[in-house]
Amino acid sequence: MGDRNSQQRENQIGYVVGGGLKEGLRVRLTVDPQSVQEGGFVVIDTGEWQFYGLITDIQLGATDPRFADEKVEDRLPPAISQLLHGQTLYANLEVLPALMLKSGRPEELPSEDASPIPVKTIPPHHAPVLLASAGNIAEIFGSPNEEGNFVIGKTREQGHPVCINLKKFVQRSSGIFGATGTGKSFLTRIILAGLIDYNKTSLLVFDMHNEYGFDDTASDTGKSVKGLRTLFPGKVRVVELGSRPSQPGRNPDFHLEIAEKDIQPEDIELLTRELNLKETTPTTLHALVTSFGIHAWYRHFKAMKPGTTIEGEDGKRVPAPDSVEAWANEAGVNIMAAVALHDKMRKLFDKPYIVPQPAADSLGEIIRLLKQGMHVMLSFGSFDSDLDYLLVTNLITRRIRREWEEMTNQHRANKKTVPEPRPLTLVVEEAHKLLNREMASQTIFSTIAREMRKYFVTLLIVDQRPSQIYDEVMSQLGTRICGWLGDDSDIQAVLSGLAGRDALRGMLAHLQPTQEVLLLGWGISMPIPVRTLRYDEEFYRNIKGGSKFGDVDQINRELGFDL
Ligand SMILES: Nc1ncnc2c1ncn2[C@@H]1O[C@H](COP(=O)(O)OP(=O)(O)O)[C@@H](O)[C@H]1O
Ligand SMILES: [Mg+2]
Repeated sequence: MGDRNSQQRENQIGYVVGGGLKEGLRVRLTVDPQSVQEGGFVVIDTGEWQFYGLITDIQLGATDPRFADEKVEDRLPPAISQLLHGQTLYANLEVLPALMLKSGRPEELPSEDASPIPVKTIPPHHAPVLLASAGNIAEIFGSPNEEGNFVIGKTREQGHPVCINLKKFVQRSSGIFGATGTGKSFLTRIILAGLIDYNKTSLLVFDMHNEYGFDDTASDTGKSVKGLRTLFPGKVRVVELGSRPSQPGRNPDFHLEIAEKDIQPEDIELLTRELNLKETTPTTLHALVTSFGIHAWYRHFKAMKPGTTIEGEDGKRVPAPDSVEAWANEAGVNIMAAVALHDKMRKLFDKPYIVPQPAADSLGEIIRLLKQGMHVMLSFGSFDSDLDYLLVTNLITRRIRREWEEMTNQHRANKKTVPEPRPLTLVVEEAHKLLNREMASQTIFSTIAREMRKYFVTLLIVDQRPSQIYDEVMSQLGTRICGWLGDDSDIQAVLSGLAGRDALRGMLAHLQPTQEVLLLGWGISMPIPVRTLRYDEEFYRNIKGGSKFGDVDQINRELGFDL
């Protein structure tokens, strides 16, 4: 107990003077108010319980307003004015209590008392309030030494490491948010490195801005940034859309071309906004599939020539047999609608990555790699329009959904012989493009956010405009990691469905503009602001030091695979 008492004296910052469960606790500060900050993590130890809470406000007070209003230093000797101040002027903290844990050594407690629970009571008057120690942080967020706990950053005041639980992170869909420039992409690299190291889930990254696979140069600092393939050469494959590298020196492991036969009417329909399609489109597409079949309609439609005519028997010009008009006539669909659709789909017909016969089954290869436990970074190369992103991500994800559903069903039917599918996390940057209210009913991603957990697939969404993401998807996100956001509706979206929103809103608005995040949600024991790790030489060294990987063959042996 001697230890505990001396630690208490050292870390004590005040004592409880009022408040309650709903409004939060009021704490009289016994130290300089400048030594504590909003978002600080505090512990209140009553001997029976340890309460864990966050500082949500700091206020100056006076026993009588006159003492605060008048500057007595000018009128009284220093010693007396100091004494007077000490007696009459003070500062209070507002503390939002979140969790409580039975005091005592966890190993000596009955198991139901060994882990923290949401607060149900409050500490009595004058209970001492302490700044949390590294040990306290570990009690709540997990010890950095335990498998599956990944240090994502440090507390702001004292720099104690804070972990996220990677198991919880991948058990449900998660999100990383923050305005542009707050460090989302860097933090995503850090977390992906943690997940690759953890080796419990495969990652497929839809890398719209070519940030994750290859080495890069930070646009603001000019410093070089290592790509994930460089960090984990044996575990990561970079695949680039198109048939040749978009930049010299950046060589992907293989290229992805899309087969014309894989394009389905629903792929076109979800491009309604991008292609400015009319309501007649589904009817025309349906007629195309009826005429040519689900695998050949695209090829036939592409080959048609709108407006070509030949001379008819009576000398008049009539639509040529290979014209759009001739097909429309024959199929009985509106000719103008068919011609307009053909014209609008020209944007797709011109895409060099959609080909009659891909050089290799690269989509199949991506799926094989993911099933084997490898991680795939799909780089969009120079194809960085929303059209490319929507089309390719949906097409691939639809195929994945089918495969994982099938594997899960086979496993369910035959648990003894068929193993569970390898869990898969799909990482989507610019997620609002795929998951906005309008698209949510059409894209495969909202289905995954809602139900794919039962098929071992989850999402990690990275976005700067969370308010534009469909609320039903937002509410599914287990772990939310959020950097500074300027827009009130974005802040509201991130906090949707969480307790203590008012206090958290202030905390989010006061984060540093970069490299500070608030950890939130079901996957986090209680909200806490942290300064994120830096993605730099030290990080590379640590992650490699802790990494069990290197040699491909060995990994595959470990996983029981032959490549
Ligand atoms: N964890 C980090 N480690 C090192 N640099 C960082 C980190 N987070 C942010 N930065 C710096 O901030 C800049 C913006 O970060 P970035 O991740 O590109 O922001 P966002 O994706 O949110 O727009 C980076 O170019 C980098 O210089
Ligand atoms: Mg970014």
